[in-house]
Amino acid sequence: MKTRVLRMSDAALREACQILRGGDLVAFPTETVYGLGGLGLRSETVQKIFHVKGRPSTDPLILHLPSSDLGFAARGGIVAEPIPPFARLLAQKFWPGPLTLIVRKGHQVPVEVTSGLDTVAVRFPSHPDAQRLLKEIGQPLAAPSANRFGRISPTDASAVLQELDGKIPLILDGGSCSNGIESTVLSLTGANPLILRPGSISADRISRTLKVPVATRSSSNTPDLSAASPGMLAHHYAPQTPLYLCTSPIQNFESPYQYILYSPQQKPTSSRIQILAPDRQPSTAAQNLYRVLRQADAAEDSAILIDPIPDSPWTPALKDRLTRASAGTAEWREGKWSLLPRITG
Ligand code: TXA
Ligand code: MG
Repeated sequence: MKTRVLRMSDAALREACQILRGGDLVAFPTETVYGLGGLGLRSETVQKIFHVKGRPSTDPLILHLPSSDLGFAARGGIVAEPIPPFARLLAQKFWPGPLTLIVRKGHQVPVEVTSGLDTVAVRFPSHPDAQRLLKEIGQPLAAPSANRFGRISPTDASAVLQELDGKIPLILDGGSCSNGIESTVLSLTGANPLILRPGSISADRISRTLKVPVATRSSSNTPDLSAASPGMLAHHYAPQTPLYLCTSPIQNFESPYQYILYSPQQKPTSSRIQILAPDRQPSTAAQNLYRVLRQADAAEDSAILIDPIPDSPWTPALKDRLTRASAGTAEWREGKWSLLPRITG
């Protein structure tokens, strides 16, 4: 199959809708990462998404809604009635935007989307191309990140092509994703709101909106919850080149968000040190992270060393992705980096 890449236009939109209505898949930009989209209410299409991605069928998908109106989604059998008041509040406040809500599923959602769970993940993305596509198609698109399973999420069309060339007919090119890491996933099905995957919308902002505490699932404090979000594997966003988290700053540089492309044969000289966020903003670090990891991978160094992440509202999200991507930690000892493999249970 020839994979075409088209900038959004009236013609590209028509073509995308035709492909989707025909049951095939289209990769499209969102503000977080590119999605691999297909009609979310059609079982065969959803199965095709899992197949193309090489994703285990036990890892449920997000439905991208054509509007922020949860009442409309409930009438369409996407989410169950009654809609949790917290869901309404959060949709009002954060949609369109990088927040995914887990609520009880409606009767129209195929079991393939939710991997058999009685809950469904929904979000209304803010990228203008995603909105145009969703509005035109007028129904939910199931869309995981447009990478092959276990690999880094793509944040521009060329990265999608690298992942899925020949496997899908069309990639809508909407430029680089402004946000750069996947949406915050928040479960509203338990006693308290629970963050299953940290993202740019922090626990603190959600908590201030709902005026209740928001718990964060972390693999260390709630190992039993892995079944509640089957996709949250310890290793997930890994580059091929092993990545190590430095236990102390790389050098006494002023600038945060550094990383080194490292080969043990070479001294980690300052020319090997690169800056993830030249403006020192955590949002820029997030925006650049996956692109840089892809580049670092292509450079065929033997390791990527990442500076400790400074504190900011983005810290949980950045740490989450980097820890999942990591092979271990790097400690500066006796004038060189010692690489310590991560123990996973
Ligand atoms: O930013 C994003 O969320 C991107 C863009 C394309 O929207 N999508 C994305 O999808 O990251 P994906 O499939 O790569 O990640 C979805 C996450 C998985 O960790 C999955 O386990 C979780 O959401 N999830 C989906 N449905 C769920 C459910 N019913 N209960 C718990 N977790 C769920
Ligand atoms: Mg993904």
